[in-house]
This record gives sequence, structure tokens and C-alpha cells, in this order.
Amino acid sequence: KLTVEDLELKGKKVLMRVDFNVPLKEENGEVIVSNDNRIVAALPTIKYVLEKGGRAILFSHLARIKSEDDKKGLSMKPVAQKLADLLGQPVVFVPATEGPELEEAINNLEDGHVLVFENTRFEDVVDGVEVKRESKNDPELGKYWASLGDVFVNDAFGTAHRAHASNAGIAANIAQTAAGFLMEKEIKFLGGAVEAPERPFVAIIGGAKVSDKITIIQNLLQKADKVIVGGGMAYTFDVANGKSIGNSLFEEDKVELAKQLIAEAGDKLVLPVDAIAADAFNNDADTYVAGDEGIKDGYMGLDIGPKSVELFKSVLADAKTVVWNGPMGVFEMPNFANGTLAIGEELVKVTEENGATTIVGGGDSTAAVQQLGVADKLTHISTGGGASLEYLEGKTLPGIAAISEK
Ligand code: 3PG
Repeated sequence: KLTVEDLELKGKKVLMRVDFNVPLKEENGEVIVSNDNRIVAALPTIKYVLEKGGRAILFSHLARIKSEDDKKGLSMKPVAQKLADLLGQPVVFVPATEGPELEEAINNLEDGHVLVFENTRFEDVVDGVEVKRESKNDPELGKYWASLGDVFVNDAFGTAHRAHASNAGIAANIAQTAAGFLMEKEIKFLGGAVEAPERPFVAIIGGAKVSDKITIIQNLLQKADKVIVGGGMAYTFDVANGKSIGNSLFEEDKVELAKQLIAEAGDKLVLPVDAIAADAFNNDADTYVAGDEGIKDGYMGLDIGPKSVELFKSVLADAKTVVWNGPMGVFEMPNFANGTLAIGEELVKVTEENGATTIVGGGDSTAAVQQLGVADKLTHISTGGGASLEYLEGKTLPGIAAISEK
């Protein structure tokens, strides 16, 4: 498999798929990027291509486009502006995904210069009809985009679980494809943790629903030394263990599966032993710490309790590799953020004191570590939401397969 360093870039039209699917907000009547993490994460590859004298042609999808109306607020223009600010050099923005204006701008692009073209998912709606040319990987579209450049660099790990025209389609139609530095880094950390972790390897899985994470838990139970399960999904396991959970969230149709996992995993699976129970889904709710006896009627668990925090810390204490996905409680509410915060702090500690490799994947967990201000102190924060989850499930990601198959 090639990386961007294997390519001859000088004077080349370098097609670069990035994941600039970033949140936007309106400020003083102007649409701006509200979180630039994904753009910052792609800078090393972009800068490398520019330094080597390549002509960088960047493109990404932005949100999902189902109608002409959706296109109005979802142009890549503010993203191109943000990129120009971060790069400290002008960025040519072309408000088209095909046609003479785009082709001419690409032909006029000079070595070391950068161009961003319009949201690739604008191709999903043509003349008001939802045709999904991008999202269904229309072979003509991949072929056309491939014809615009000399080589293809895929740095969009966040989109690697999609087989769309702008990643898989181009890769199939161009002579040379390579992974960018971000793609490589994501594969190194997420793939490395799951395939060849330094042990003990501890996985922490949280979040609201068992159904979203069941395949990850199953896969990680095969690979990790311990799998800690916290967050809302733990109450389904509590029901499986015969514990009362009051009004807590749980999935009745997953109780049998939870029972089976508990039986198969033995002490590899670590569950919370207490909870912060609240009488409403509200930061100011009345709360108490519910222990072994379970949660009483009228209350719901919204965070792990202090004994669970100590238990989880003890499991993490000698870890050499940790993968974390999903919060331990409703961390957006300060009174239920403690469990998630404690895990974040413990991860910083094992990173600094044990030299452990600590990896965070998934949208919620990434938001949590950023809110907690610990993102810089952990080894790797994945830019993938769905992509990192599917990677941890052990699935082959088409965006990666399309590069390695070359
Ligand atoms: C993401 O944010 O997870 C990726 O950019 C993929 O977006 P999608 O789920 O709309 O395909």
C-alpha cells in the first residue's frame, strides 16, 4: 500500500479526499466553521503535498444532501475559508462539483497552490431529484473526478466506512492512490490497538444503547484483556443480572444477549457497581448513590457512581493500551459528568505514568475529551465517528480497502 510519501508530487494534480464534514454555525449573519478539528488533522498531508510542489485539489462531503434546499446552507465555501486561515495561504474555492469552471480552475492551478471544490454530496441531488450519484458511487462520477487529476491521496478516515464516488470511485479509476498521513495515523492507532496491542489492553465502552455497540463489545471481548461497560447501556446488563434499575434506560430486546455476553465473558467484562440515580432527566434533579441494591422506583441512573469509578480506575491502573468509546453518563449535564471526567483523567494518568497508548474513538467520546480539556494529553483522538466504530467492530472499511487494493 502506498503512502503520500511514495508519490511523485511536483507539478502533479493531486486529488485529495479529506473529511471536512465539520459543524457549521451562523455568526453575525455569516456561516462559519464551529469546530475545525478535522481540518487541522488534515493539514500535515496538505502541507506536505504543497511543499513538494503538488497542486492540491481538495474535496469533501458536508452533511447529507436530500434536496436542492439542503444545498443552500451546506456549501464548502466557509470550510475553504477556514482552511485558508489555517494554512496561511489563499485557497481557490470553486462552487461546482463538475463542469468547465472547475476544469479550468484546476488547469490554472499552480504548483504549491490549493483548490477546494464544492460539497461532493451536491451530486446526490440533480435538478431537484435525489439520485445519490456520490453516495451510491455512480461509476461515471468516480471516473469523471479521477480524470481531473494525476494521482489520488485519500486522507478521509472519517469517511472510510463509506464506499462513495469521491473515495472508492476515484480510487478504482486512477493509476495511483495513496493514504495520507491522517489515514495512516488512524490505521496505526486504531488498527494497532485492536490487532497488536501492548498488554494489558483495556477497552472502555459507554453510551446510551447496547444495540449501537454490541458488535464492538463482542469484537473487543475477543481482543482485549478487560472490557469495561458503562453509560446508559450498562442498565441492560444490570437487568440481565437481575438488578433493579428503576426508570433507567434499557433495551428489553437486548437482555438475553447481555445475559449471554455476561456468561461468555466471565471476569473479562467489568460492569458498574453503583450509579448516580436521579428523579428526572435534568441537571437539577434530586439524586442519590444507588449501590448493590439497585435503583429504586422513580429514579434513573444518569452516571456511574464513586465505587464504579474506583473499580474502573483499578482495572485501568496497569493498562498499556486503552481504547475508549462512549461516555459513562450524561456528561453534557455537569452533575452527571463525573464518571466520564474520572475516566478521562485516569487515561491521562496512565498515558503519562505507564506510557500507555490511549485512543479515543467515536463522536460522543471525542466531544467528551474535548469538553474535559484532556484531548491533548492522550495518545490519539480519532477523527472518525462511524468509521472508528466500524473499525473497532473489526469490519473492513471500503475507503481503506480501495487504497490497499491498488
Ligand atoms: C462522519 O462524520 O461520520 C463522516 O463524515 C461520515 O458522514 P456520513 O455519516 O454522513 O456518511
